[in-house]
Amino acid sequence: MLRTPLLVAARSSACRTLVERAPVTRGLVSRFVAGSSQEQALPAVQELARDRYVTLDHLGEDTTDITQAQATVTAYSRLLRELGRQGLADRAEVSVKLSAVGQFLSADGEKIALDNARRICEEAAAVGTTVTLDMEDHTTTDSTLGILRDLRVDFPWVGAVLQAYLHRTEADCRDLRDAGSRVRLCKGAYDEPASVAYRDKGEVDRSYVRCLKILMAGEGYPMIASHDPRLIAIAGKLAADTGRSPDSYEYQMLYGIRDAEQVRLAAEGNRMRVYVPYGDEWYGYFMRRLAERPANVAFFARSLVSR
Ligand code: FDA
Repeated sequence: MLRTPLLVAARSSACRTLVERAPVTRGLVSRFVAGSSQEQALPAVQELARDRYVTLDHLGEDTTDITQAQATVTAYSRLLRELGRQGLADRAEVSVKLSAVGQFLSADGEKIALDNARRICEEAAAVGTTVTLDMEDHTTTDSTLGILRDLRVDFPWVGAVLQAYLHRTEADCRDLRDAGSRVRLCKGAYDEPASVAYRDKGEVDRSYVRCLKILMAGEGYPMIASHDPRLIAIAGKLAADTGRSPDSYEYQMLYGIRDAEQVRLAAEGNRMRVYVPYGDEWYGYFMRRLAERPANVAFFARSLVSR
């Protein structure tokens, strides 16, 4: 019931000011965000990299300012060089939102985003790691998959996220199940209309399983991005049924969510990657995490009232 209002609030600047100023917010944000700077986030990455893999997200989205888009590219370049310097590039890659590097800029947004993403891929290639493109709301899917296709001509290892809640995703999985492709399959975190997306949880889960079957039977590298115990168990069974070796797919979860399960999956010999966001632009990301779980909202609301 709270999901839709929270996701609407995620894009409201008035709510943003309110939430950002609430003194209790910081504590809860730090559960999901590894720090406000690269320097703060990297110790957490070092720690996780002992038994897990990492993908780092420099927080930011919906940029309407070219200077901001360029600053994001600079931040990723600095991060990638540091991953190389600290010997972390074989354990840590980066995740990029195209809307943070210019996709929504009015003139030539797509071209700017492509050029900026290309620069990030060049830096990633130089240190020997990979890049995965995050997926935002459904109005960006075609553009993001188009940019993915262009990037993969020079950087065939660039990955993409597909969202099981979209009606189109089974077809996208078929297009992206070939050798070399890396697909991070998630349920989807935005407020989408019924014309393009399943809105019922059971339907989303069933779509996830159909998509997973296509990816696991394909020749690419599926990345199972979910905390849902049922889907994780199904993924394990599909891997066994299709004869996949543990290095031919991976599980992924978000920083701060189901840590014990992450440790368990890694200890059982699975590849387990943690999505680690950092930076000051945490508002949209944080609101989507609240929307996913009513208990998070209740905790946040209780903290506000008890002050
Ligand atoms: P579900 O929401 O059913 O949760 C299953 C269980 O996980 C819950 O019962 C709870 O125990 C735990 N859990 C889930 N969310 C929680 C939370 N916020 N706080 C505490 N516990 C929680 N989406 C998108 O649209 N575009 C993208 O690019 C990405 N990228 C991405 C990368 C990675 C690595 C992950 C894991 C997820 C994403 N997502 C995403 C988010 C995704 O679409 C989805 O919203 C969340 O993963 C929650 O869905 P689950 O599959 O975990 O199931």
